[in-house]
Amino acid sequence: MEVLSVASEIYPLIKTGGLADVAGALPAALVESGVTMRTLLPGYPAVVGRIAGGREVARFDDLFGVTGRLIAGRVEGLDLIVLDAPALYDRPGNPYMGPEGWDWPDNWKRFAALSWVASELGLGLVEGYRPQVIHAHDWQAGLVPAYVKFGPSATLKTVMTVHNMAFQGTFGADIFSQLRLPLHAFSVEGVEYYGGVGYLKAGVECADVVTTVSPSYADEIRTPAFGMGLEGLLNNRSGTVFGVLNGIDMQAWNPATDPALKRNYSAGTIQGRTDNKWAVLEAFGLDVLDGPLFAVVSRLTWQKGIDLLAANIDMLVAQGGQLAVLGSGDAELENAIRAASLRHPGKVGLITGYNEALSHLMQGGADVMMVPSRFEPCGLTQLYALRYGSIPLVSRVGGLNDTVIDANVAALQAEVATGVQFAPPDEQALANAIRRVFELYKDQKSWKKMQRRGMKSDVSWASSAAHYAQIYASLTGMTLNDDPDS
Ligand code: ADP
Ligand code: GLC
Repeated sequence: MEVLSVASEIYPLIKTGGLADVAGALPAALVESGVTMRTLLPGYPAVVGRIAGGREVARFDDLFGVTGRLIAGRVEGLDLIVLDAPALYDRPGNPYMGPEGWDWPDNWKRFAALSWVASELGLGLVEGYRPQVIHAHDWQAGLVPAYVKFGPSATLKTVMTVHNMAFQGTFGADIFSQLRLPLHAFSVEGVEYYGGVGYLKAGVECADVVTTVSPSYADEIRTPAFGMGLEGLLNNRSGTVFGVLNGIDMQAWNPATDPALKRNYSAGTIQGRTDNKWAVLEAFGLDVLDGPLFAVVSRLTWQKGIDLLAANIDMLVAQGGQLAVLGSGDAELENAIRAASLRHPGKVGLITGYNEALSHLMQGGADVMMVPSRFEPCGLTQLYALRYGSIPLVSRVGGLNDTVIDANVAALQAEVATGVQFAPPDEQALANAIRRVFELYKDQKSWKKMQRRGMKSDVSWASSAAHYAQIYASLTGMTLNDDPDS
């Protein structure tokens, strides 16, 4: 089975968040089920530089008014098809914004072009390549299901995965005439959304199957509090909406071999983490103390509950804890953490910017990894934390709810706890959870047991990749490798 994945970022070439990790890890995880996944990716500078030795497989003289070409090749074990269209993608900054932090004004065109090209590939644009399914990720690929639905193919199937309802790609109605869609696509059954054009809405409406990245989030987004306007639509098609939990790349994130760690370790040699903790303290300019080291690796935004954290830092320090924060985002939240680091020198540290290696070291050295999100479709940091024996302290929402077993009395007695959860996501509940962490930390024997349990929990892609494969199979009527009838 051939599946074309369409994503706006992919690890290790270009990453702003968890979508890149997922897009980068899923293809390898699907191999076992007999699914070949290629990924269509915009030709950002970081991508074009890596695919230079690839093969040109198509050319476009008029790609929404610009020229472009497709280059196919294998990079870092990934089968890529890169849309090299310099007028659209050859720009500084991250995939969506310029260096000043503003969205590119032609994002509608940049990602319409990507989606249109995907649908052309699905129709057999490149000789010898014809995917049966196109798997579109997030609003940037949201128009793919619309191009397919309003296009000529009766057999091509689409899966739309929503990684975050908060980002929907909505634009004015004026762009519609340039989208290369028939007039009747500007309707409730198509791309029309509150009088404008909604890319994610189009994907959710037009795809054969909609998935999101955890079972809890799949339930939450059917409600107004989390659906962000799309809950009605999701409820209308609830038989074809599934929650498929993300996994992690078990090779890239392996404490026994991770080159970013000061000291490698496994569940049996967990004391080796201490060297990593010291390295983290040093990196953040923090004192060497006995208390627990809390860490945050995150976008610093309202979604991630960073304000809830900021409100609790004085209390965390008063109890003898330390805090290391790696991230960037809203200036106000960054400033709140920075102010705390100035109030508590040697106890609280902030490093801004994006640093993949440091994020690994923090997973390998922190005692507690905090993810106090207001909503979290899946969340990967808590999965990395489990794998690295860092105790996750998380809010009880979305994928955080599905992946961490709270250390309540029953779970401790049954010896199944892997972390600490709190609800609702507010300051007070987080304060209570932090206090609970200090209590648990006092009993080092049971703390270590909890760490080891986390390290043994299955955070791999195995079962979820099989779930995606099953979805593709049900859409195409094809059989899978592990199907006993095949
Ligand atoms: P989201 O995609 O909503 O940001 P996830 O938890 O799914 O949240 O994924 C975040 C990913 O980005 C993780 O791989 C995390 O380690 C990484 N990350 C976030 N901020 C940073 C940073 N400042 N430096 C390095 N990695 C980061
Ligand atoms: C989004 C979500 C995050 C999820 C990631 C990958 O960025 O915010 O929860 O883990 O996508 O699916």
